[in-house]
Amino acid sequence: AADIASDLTDVLVTEEQIHTRLDEVAAQVAADYDGKDLVLVGVLKGAVMVMADFARALPTLVPMDWMAVSSYGASTKSSGVVQIRKDLDTDLHGKHVLIVEDIIDSGLTLSWLLENFASRGAASIEVFALLRKPEAAKVVIDCKYVGFDIPNDFVVGYGLDYAEKYRNLRDVAVLAPHVYS
Ligand code: PRP
Ligand code: MN
Ligand code: MG
Repeated sequence: AADIASDLTDVLVTEEQIHTRLDEVAAQVAADYDGKDLVLVGVLKGAVMVMADFARALPTLVPMDWMAVSSYGASTKSSGVVQIRKDLDTDLHGKHVLIVEDIIDSGLTLSWLLENFASRGAASIEVFALLRKPEAAKVVIDCKYVGFDIPNDFVVGYGLDYAEKYRNLRDVAVLAPHVYS
């Protein structure tokens, strides 16, 4: 088997820390959206893991829709050029939308997405990002719910990839520079 451990340096956030934090954020979201028509919008593909676990941490039924955008491709740097690969299936009109993301890095993806969503008639739009890199911000995103602020390292796992690899790691870990340099 390939030696995955040699591709990684530190484990930054463990599976257990993620699940503890998801329970906390879910309790907060459940209270904030009590009685409101909430819809979760996951950003494919990175948000698949956090969406699946976060949605199941909520105490109520909630619709989940998906948007597929990509700005990174096989690079470690955001191009800033965002492409829609799959649009939502549902109408956001009158809905309270919570966008679920794995990470805010430069912020360019969410900045573009929030602008794109602004004209869809939602009652409100907020963001939950599991991870955020304050030092990497090129645009500051108004993100109501954040799982963890992390240093400006290239991280993989729990949905985050490098060239489509490492998404199914259970923890979030730092990718060793020899892998991408
Ligand atoms: C990654 C990540 C976020 C975005 C964050 O997605 O999942 O969506 O980049 O970076 P930014 O804040 O610098 O825009 P990516 O474009 O790699 O697509 P993926 O989710 O399919 O991996
Ligand atoms: Mn993504
Ligand atoms: Mg990616």
